[in-house]
Amino acid sequence: MDSGKPSITERFAKAQHAFTFRDFILLPGLTEVDPSEVDIETRVTTDNVIRVPFVSSPMDTVTEDEMAITLARLGGLGVIHRNCSTEEQVEMAKKVKRAESLVIRDVVTAEPGYAVREALALMRKYEISGLPVVKEGKLVGILTGRDVRFANEDDLVGNVMTKKVVTAHDNITLEQARELMHEHRIEKLPLVDESGKLKGLITFKDISLRGKYPNASRDKVGRLLCAAAASPFDEERCMRLDKVVDIIVFDVAHFHNKKVIDAARRLVKKLSANVVIGNIGTRQAALDVVSSIERVNALRAGIGSGSICITTEITKAGAPTLFAVAQAFDALKELGSDIPIWADGGITSPGDVALALAAGSSAVCIGNLFARTRESPGSLVAIGGQYYKAYRGMGSPSAMEKRHAIDRYASPSKGIAEGVEGYVPYKGDLATMVNELSQGLKASMGYMGAKNIREAWTKAQVAWVSELGATETKAHDVILPTRGPT
Ligand code: IMP
Repeated sequence: MDSGKPSITERFAKAQHAFTFRDFILLPGLTEVDPSEVDIETRVTTDNVIRVPFVSSPMDTVTEDEMAITLARLGGLGVIHRNCSTEEQVEMAKKVKRAESLVIRDVVTAEPGYAVREALALMRKYEISGLPVVKEGKLVGILTGRDVRFANEDDLVGNVMTKKVVTAHDNITLEQARELMHEHRIEKLPLVDESGKLKGLITFKDISLRGKYPNASRDKVGRLLCAAAASPFDEERCMRLDKVVDIIVFDVAHFHNKKVIDAARRLVKKLSANVVIGNIGTRQAALDVVSSIERVNALRAGIGSGSICITTEITKAGAPTLFAVAQAFDALKELGSDIPIWADGGITSPGDVALALAAGSSAVCIGNLFARTRESPGSLVAIGGQYYKAYRGMGSPSAMEKRHAIDRYASPSKGIAEGVEGYVPYKGDLATMVNELSQGLKASMGYMGAKNIREAWTKAQVAWVSELGATETKAHDVILPTRGPT
């Protein structure tokens, strides 16, 4: 054997252990922490803090606007999938950003010359109950549900609108707005400047939603936080999303690829949103990615652990989530970087979340568990007296038929499915699921003796259990009436 280099036999025999969630338990440690005191707030990207460490996967049976809105209200973050046209994805993201805000800036308005029919169409399209009426940017009235109730559809907005409008200046506080709206019994408060130009709108609905969802993930101006997935090769989509969302997730099955890194490096410079890079699986990938891309706001780690994933089964290539997170965490430490890591794929319980955090992640990306909820877009079906929801991999044959998912799992040169499609048991509201995950996670952290996520990185002690967690690298936790080609 030539000098110093290990033989193939040695390389195989001394290979690292790509450990999985099923390999470990968390050892209960000496604790002073009561689960009720545990704080699971986290940095989901370098610039955004959220109250619960759960991100919903960008998959077309997991995250559309309804999931993203509900999860953000509960303190997490939704990543809108990209298996649709840019138009459709941007529209979904806009719905999230419009769902609530302290001050709506991009106000939907009507003009006095519109027919009531046109105004009603706008109200239906944007799911809103009234429209400020403007002429050359200046507020001249407001069209409310009451105004249009008895109007003829051909009437002009200018003839039926309420002309005497209660308004306020842009710098009004939330409390003052609430009082003013209460005093005048109004639901919408247009904000105008000295010249009467419309500057924004405060709605009573938004004020009451603030009280209802105190943990919600919000941007700097009070709108719900929203992320969306895109390929780093799809510049047009990224640029359009950049105008709407807070976070763009470069959604690549194997990011540690020269062409991908180059494309991302060029694109990041043009984007103002935070950028999440992934998926990566090894220490070297984390080192290469972080040192070659100017701005990385979070890393998404894990290849092959997803419950609908057959990448490893087919190709033998993979980096199970727990291992990938630990690798990324150690690499970042070497670089002196504290970029947050998302553990992506294979989460089946709060204990898995706890392990993922213990391995160095700041948040977990969840597909399967969230696909089970009412808010996921997958269809609800009854099988043998039980309810299920459809759940499929983005590299499954039917998802790839839609074409938009194709560059994540199968470039035309690959031509093989890396995901399966099936059903997961229906579990009802997302709020219940998030609550169960949060409570379970806090209990776990209580056992570890960690009162927050940062402490979990240092305090958690793990121990091996029984057999290799081989099942994690295969499709699991779904019923599989059909399988993709194997
Ligand atoms: P789950 O929560 O275990 O179901 O994992 C969800 C994760 O699986 C996603 O966030 C993706 O990273 C990954 N994934 C989604 N679709 C596919 C696929 O078709 N093949 C492999 N991995 C996938």
